[in-house]
Amino acid sequence: DLERVLALLGHRAARFAPRTVEECTSTNTELVERPPIEDGRIHVLIAERQTAGRGRRGRNWHSWPGAGLTFSTLWRFAPGSAVPAGLSLAAGLALARALEKLDVAGIQLKWPNDVLVHGQKLAGILVELLPMRGRPPAAVIGIGINLRLPAHATVPDQPGGITDLAGQLASPPSREELLARVLAELHDLFEVYASAGFPALRAAWQQRNAFADLPVRISGEGVETRGTCIGVDDDGALLVRGEDGVQRILSGEVSLRVD
Ligand code: ATP
Ligand code: BTN
Repeated sequence: DLERVLALLGHRAARFAPRTVEECTSTNTELVERPPIEDGRIHVLIAERQTAGRGRRGRNWHSWPGAGLTFSTLWRFAPGSAVPAGLSLAAGLALARALEKLDVAGIQLKWPNDVLVHGQKLAGILVELLPMRGRPPAAVIGIGINLRLPAHATVPDQPGGITDLAGQLASPPSREELLARVLAELHDLFEVYASAGFPALRAAWQQRNAFADLPVRISGEGVETRGTCIGVDDDGALLVRGEDGVQRILSGEVSLRVD
């Protein structure tokens, strides 16, 4: 019910143009391939069902019917803005803050794009830049949050397993409340991001770094590194101290694991 979401957004409601669909392949694909005409508002696409929800590297975002919230937002930057750095981390921080305000305890961020609770994956973010074609930068930020998973739901490749809000909170929020809170945090954080960039958010991100000071292994795209995770830099690149000094891992198609 979008009316409810807009009511919950209060004074921020006018900034948003939300739309729901019963079914689509992926809300990210939809907004990347058919971006709405620019009208100064932040376009939001919510899908009841995705038939091909995506993570990075062509991996799947699994949604079970009615089990979660899957949506994407389109952010347009001012003319002359640089290609946004650390955007996926900024979005993760907004999501973490929204969840913390709902009283979810133990939220941590896994570089570059996952939200974990006590090591279990609760939500994922997929950021994709639109082709510039001479226009200012624009990015689609897609978010999937598990609200109430079916019993015994599992996914491949999550060493710590997965979790949902129903498992973390005695009274989990409605989908409307969850969406309104996440949009409100994204909105507020992006005002900071747009004026001061990721450096202004870096400390807040690092406070929630799931792998801070832990031994990690990074693999993929011809990269294979081990070391201690010491944080992120002003561009949102991961910093890993290994035998040959500190390495910067650019947010890309690599996978991060505790070693
Ligand atoms: P990596 O762990 O390699 O750094 P990632 O966790 O960021 O990658 P992506 O490829 O971006 O992974 O996202 C897809 C992954 O998310 C899937 O491979 C699966 O492990 C996990 N996943 C898929 N659906 C869900 C879900 N509903 N809840 C939690 N995790 C999910
Ligand atoms: C990840 O787990 O790392 C990323 C998952 C992102 C999933 C969301 S669901 C809404 C949007 N549409 C997609 O196809 N992916 C994102």
